[in-house]
Amino acid sequence: MKFGLPMAFTTTMLAWSVADFGKYMGSDLPHARAAVRWGADYLLKAATSTPGTLYVQVGDPGQDDKCWERPEDMDTPRAVYAVTASTPGSDVAAETAAALAASAVAFRRADPGYAASLLRAAVVAFELADRHRGSYSEGTLGAAVCPFYCSYSGYEDELLWAAAWLHRASGNATFMAYVRANGAQDGAGNDDYSSSWDDKRIGTKVLLARAVLRRDRRQNVPGLQLYKAHSDSYICSLVAGGWCRAPAGSRPGTGQYKPGGLIYREGDSNMQYVTTTTFLLLAYARYLRTAGATAACGGGEVAPAELVALAKRQVDYILGKNPAGTSFMGFAYLHSAAPDANLLVGAVVGGPDAHDGFVDDRDSYGQTEPATYINAPLVGVLAYFAGTAKY
Ligand SMILES: *[C@@H]1O[C@H](CO)[C@@H](O)[C@H](O)[C@H]1NC(C)=O
Repeated sequence: MKFGLPMAFTTTMLAWSVADFGKYMGSDLPHARAAVRWGADYLLKAATSTPGTLYVQVGDPGQDDKCWERPEDMDTPRAVYAVTASTPGSDVAAETAAALAASAVAFRRADPGYAASLLRAAVVAFELADRHRGSYSEGTLGAAVCPFYCSYSGYEDELLWAAAWLHRASGNATFMAYVRANGAQDGAGNDDYSSSWDDKRIGTKVLLARAVLRRDRRQNVPGLQLYKAHSDSYICSLVAGGWCRAPAGSRPGTGQYKPGGLIYREGDSNMQYVTTTTFLLLAYARYLRTAGATAACGGGEVAPAELVALAKRQVDYILGKNPAGTSFMGFAYLHSAAPDANLLVGAVVGGPDAHDGFVDDRDSYGQTEPATYINAPLVGVLAYFAGTAKY
């Protein structure tokens, strides 16, 4: 399955990670950029290969979900779904525009020519989204995209998010004017930790608050101050609801946490809200710190360090500092005695010890771990014996 809306959002967040945190990635930065490019290349083709058409999904999810198998064995229909002027999908088209624009920011210095192509495609996707408004869940695409990646939050949030990204990527005042004209209904206090592939409201506020805090003349900030205020109000509710002591009555305190301290929104796939919210906390903390600013909470102030500490607690929880004492990053399989969750066919493992002994245990990775550099040379060896064998 290729699901355009969550895939585009993934690319947007990965690109934002590189744009804001790339300087901390060291020798992993090229790998991170390669991962962004993998998503951006796909979206670029989806948005530009047929003029007036944006491809947004491949495969019928109803049939696909019934049939778990290797891609090589798949024979379920590879139906292709697209957004056009007569089949609107402003949500998925605007998210695609956001992903392309954010990727342009990530590649601005590393590959300016590629960044320019991404930006041009982002504008095309945005125009399709804005001129032919409608949710892809409500038209004829609805039966194919729902209930899997239905746009529950509507498309206004994606349009504003895309405009904010296009402005950051291009510096073109047209997009800020768009935000001013269309952003008014998106008020403060209507965010509830739902930041996800579906809901871009708080992400947009934090991104626009960056423009306000930078006081960049080209950003033309008057009228955008409210986005700093809205980001503050969201951040304050998180801080007040959780870890930080609040002067009684001074902070709204609508944050929700599990007893162990994890941000909690809902039971299914809660970690998506945790990771996105944690990203926003950290991004906002850095925008504040760079500007020498704080978040205004009720009568008081919350310093960037407090936001960083809250983000750190979320990360620690994810990686194992939690009541269950377990990491949610997948190490559970490493020490488990249960069978492998995924069967890898045809890979040679590390092999026996000096005495022909072999312990079939994941923890004994020197013996049980397969690796590409073990297998690649064997390809030639096996080819020789297969090609010269006498039957
Ligand atoms: C700014 O963007 C608008 C809308 O895409 C476009 O028409 C205009 O030419 C752009 N301006 C510049 C200076 O690139």
